[in-house]
Amino acid sequence: MNILVIGSGGREHTLAWKFAQSERVEQVYVAPGNDAIAEEPGCQSVPIQENDHEKLVAFARENRIGLTMVGPEAPLVDGVTDAFTEAGLTVFGPTKAAAALEGSKDFAKGIMQKYNIPTAAYATFTNPDAAMSYIREQGAPIVVKADGLAAGKGVVVAKTEEEAIEAVTAMMQDHRFGEAGSRVVIEECLEGEELSFMAFVHGTAVVPMVTAQDHKRAFDGDEGPNTGGMGAYSPVPHLDGTWQAEAERTILRPMAEAMVNEGVPFTGILYGGLMITADGPRVIEFNARFGDPETQVILPRMMSDLTDTIEAVLAGEEPDLVWTEEACAAVVIASEGYPGEYKKGTTFTLPVPVSDKQRWFHAGSKRHHEQWQTAGGRVAALSTLAPGIDEAVSRTYETLGQTPLDGLFYRRDIAHHVRKKS
Ligand code: AMP
Ligand code: GLY
Repeated sequence: MNILVIGSGGREHTLAWKFAQSERVEQVYVAPGNDAIAEEPGCQSVPIQENDHEKLVAFARENRIGLTMVGPEAPLVDGVTDAFTEAGLTVFGPTKAAAALEGSKDFAKGIMQKYNIPTAAYATFTNPDAAMSYIREQGAPIVVKADGLAAGKGVVVAKTEEEAIEAVTAMMQDHRFGEAGSRVVIEECLEGEELSFMAFVHGTAVVPMVTAQDHKRAFDGDEGPNTGGMGAYSPVPHLDGTWQAEAERTILRPMAEAMVNEGVPFTGILYGGLMITADGPRVIEFNARFGDPETQVILPRMMSDLTDTIEAVLAGEEPDLVWTEEACAAVVIASEGYPGEYKKGTTFTLPVPVSDKQRWFHAGSKRHHEQWQTAGGRVAALSTLAPGIDEAVSRTYETLGQTPLDGLFYRRDIAHHVRKKS
């Protein structure tokens, strides 16, 4: 069969690479994909934008696509899966209504509250004065979130009341995030360590994956602005293992059931951004798709066939997934300046992977003769499988260190939480 992946980043490169390993898969098309995906064996980039639903559906029909997988959140919130389903095509991703779990923080919090899914206490405001008095009442630290999608930038973890009030002013009065900030969610600041816990979901069928930890800040020591993610590793061995079963029981399964109960059954990847607190796992946010760069460390560990897994879940089954015991680490190389302003078109030489356990997943790159040029903020991630986290991380850095990467930067401390303890 043929597969269509929608999106163009490192997550989609990883998905395409993994789908291409399925024996039953003939060709993986990625729309719009990128130049590196086009070079991946069995994969092809297709010049259709992710928001062009009509063209995507027409392409899927013409090319006998048996399964479409949607990578990013924007086309989901835009209703791309609804368009595929209406056309009678098989697609793995939530409907527009179910994608509100990621598209509206207020919607997600409302369901969590109604179904007692552990999360930070919160209140939602459309009136800035009311938001500000709530902040004065609650005190700091406190978290201010734009309700809608703000490309990962709509969250302020405020250490002081003044900082929180400034965030409210920026979102609600200065409209820094446009419509997305006309409503804000203000919530309790949770303490603990963050983790990404994702599952394949269809209605009440839930198949959890192994966990990963992302590094959201731009610079070493978790300093600097929030980014889409600068590196990740899996598994996350230093946290007590019991929370994983607990999070499946108290968070992922009840959420899937709640969505069915609410008449908006969820199909696709349910991503719990969790804080492991002293009182157990709490939800920071839900996403309605695979994490990026978490995918770059989770799928290399997945021994089960991705196509078979998704088809089984779509049939309501809960297949036992097989994972390698090996650990995986990925380090993102980004354009200098990211997540702020950065230059495109910088030519660079990609360090060569040392084995088939190490590979590049590209996001913002372009072919330029024999070399590569930057074409985005996050350019690519080098992902390495190894017997343990320490080896996975050090082998990644060894390869990265072999070639100068002028105009690019990367964090030197991926997995520092685990490595400090070892
Ligand atoms: P988000 O865009 O929802 O992923 O939030 C960005 C970051 O803000 C998260 O990765 C957390 O580090 C932090 N954050 C969000 N909500 C909370 C919370 N309730 N308590 C503490 N930190 C939070
Ligand atoms: N890496 C965080 C995310 O995909 O939302």
